[in-house]
Amino acid sequence: MLPKPKHPLMSAPRPALSENTAAVSEIEHPAARRGLVLDEVVLVGRMLDEYRRFFSLDLDALHGRTVLDVASGVSSFCVEANALGIRATACDAIYELDHAVIRARCARDLEKVTRAMSGLQTYRWETIGGLEAMHGLREQAYLKFLADYPAQRGTRYVPGVLPVLPFADRSFDLTLCSYLLFVYEEHFDYEFHRQSLLEIMRVTRNEARFYPTVNYECARSEHLMRMLEDKALRHLRFEIVPTDFEFLRNSNNCLHVTRK
Ligand SMILES: C[S@@+](CC[C@H](N)C(=O)[O-])C[C@H]1O[C@@H](n2cnc3c(N)ncnc32)[C@H](O)[C@@H]1O
Repeated sequence: MLPKPKHPLMSAPRPALSENTAAVSEIEHPAARRGLVLDEVVLVGRMLDEYRRFFSLDLDALHGRTVLDVASGVSSFCVEANALGIRATACDAIYELDHAVIRARCARDLEKVTRAMSGLQTYRWETIGGLEAMHGLREQAYLKFLADYPAQRGTRYVPGVLPVLPFADRSFDLTLCSYLLFVYEEHFDYEFHRQSLLEIMRVTRNEARFYPTVNYECARSEHLMRMLEDKALRHLRFEIVPTDFEFLRNSNNCLHVTRK
């Protein structure tokens, strides 16, 4: 059995709109609602503690379990989780690349994103302690990842490009996917989202979790709304689960998917 989130599950098929609307209304000037604008998916990674909070992970219960982190990039979740006895595997398009190439790209992307995020009201800065603190956390994440990558490349770090994953059916107890689907909905169409979800569920034994469920404008993802109504996904159960973590505004819930 996978650990159950500490929060009560919301069985309603849609996220609580009223909560989300209230948070967005705190952004005073309409022009300030403009979120982070990116011309490409960036190579910026989070640490295990952020994953723990937004995915509602019970790390003790995951000990010895197999966990796949899809589109893991330069996140340090995989190295930190393995150190805790969790059998984590990371899969990302970038694991075809050498250490030096990844290092240069993630350092560049972190500077670019930090500049682009400065002053944005679409973030609750108090959650993370400000722009400089965010930069520090993201830097720590990529340094931990880079220190682990050369020795574990091809074993823990497996190259793969959604919507296809290089794993057998039902290989992992739990699959996680953060900051690729839904949030980048302008970069990927609905069909990509649907095929990626089906592929993630193919390699997952129990449950997959996706975060965030909003885009960079802090609005509920249109692709997610469409998925909830999609007849081709009727065999799946979608639950929007509240989290106690909200850096990007309105990102205080996570999508959990299981088979019916
Ligand atoms: C913003 S990062 C998120 C990293 C990590 N999940 C986190 O939250 O810290 C997005 C990642 O998605 C990866 N990516 C982009 N397109 C992909 C695809 N089609 N298949 C797999 N990974 C992809 C990028 O290489 C990048 O590492």
